[in-house]
Amino acid sequence: MNQDILIKTVARLVMQPKGILAIDESLSTCNKRFEKLGVPTTEEKRREYRELLVTAPNIEKYISGYIFFDETLRQSTKDGRSFISVLESKGIEVGIKVDEGTTEFAGHQGEKITKGLEGLGERLKEYRKLGATFAKWRAVYTVGNNLPSEDCMKKNAEDFAKYAKLCQENDIVPIVEPEVLIDGEYTLEQSYKATARNLEVVFNELKRANIFFLGMILKTSMVIPGKDAKVSVSNIEIAQTTVKCLKEKVLKEIGGIVFLSGGQSDEDAIKNLNAMHQLGPLPWPLTFSYGRAIQNPALESWAKNPADVALAQKLLVQAAQSNSLASIGQYK
Ligand code: G3H
Repeated sequence: MNQDILIKTVARLVMQPKGILAIDESLSTCNKRFEKLGVPTTEEKRREYRELLVTAPNIEKYISGYIFFDETLRQSTKDGRSFISVLESKGIEVGIKVDEGTTEFAGHQGEKITKGLEGLGERLKEYRKLGATFAKWRAVYTVGNNLPSEDCMKKNAEDFAKYAKLCQENDIVPIVEPEVLIDGEYTLEQSYKATARNLEVVFNELKRANIFFLGMILKTSMVIPGKDAKVSVSNIEIAQTTVKCLKEKVLKEIGGIVFLSGGQSDEDAIKNLNAMHQLGPLPWPLTFSYGRAIQNPALESWAKNPADVALAQKLLVQAAQSNSLASIGQYK
């Protein structure tokens, strides 16, 4: 492990006023989003859409890194430039989702664990050669009666630690992404409890595995109530609760913290992040790593009018710019 390489990559990823754009939807997730909007679910259509995202003019002012899915990492523009080379020419870091999705957690109804450790070392070596400088591994947690269970949190945390270790051995910055799913009727308080306990479990395992904290990034869900909870919570309250939870449970020495948007509205994702930056100085760099909250307007526009790539790109860059402003507390 070369600590210097890891520290420099982290610094480029969390450099203000930028954040990360996640375009790492698996084939099935991408296809589901296409189907909903009437877009054909072919490899060429996925390539065409990702080309639009990768080549958006001036997006490098707001975005420090893109997270790809394996298929996208290997694709090229219509005129033959690899997506990787396009990003590199803009000074954008190339990231790769390396987990292989989730599967039922045997004996634990309603809970999932993440797949993908088998052969991971070899895959990371290949990704590094292709140009990836960071990676992502996501685990999901359901909040409900006695959920998430200690067993589920422990199993996912052990796997996070194995993944992060392998990444760092290959000079790839690991993004560790525990996502408390937004589905359900749970309250802000329940969300806080689940997130806080899970972060404790995750960091215990990361410490046990001797992970180099300055060379990793935590990607977390915000502390928000479930989407079916009949409560209204302000952006300020969400910001305060999230920052309190992170200050209590995340080491100051970590390279940075980024958020997923997780199905909240595009506007809330911006306003919550903005509000966190108005709470005063934070112990770690804190920014976004959104998928839907940045892509939504561009995808909808392109689905309606695939010929107007320029309009879709304009919407993408506008969303990236708003989030960039939020990442320094200057979104109005
Ligand atoms: O794993 C999820 C993505 O990296 C972030 O996507 O912002 O749409 O939740 P999202």
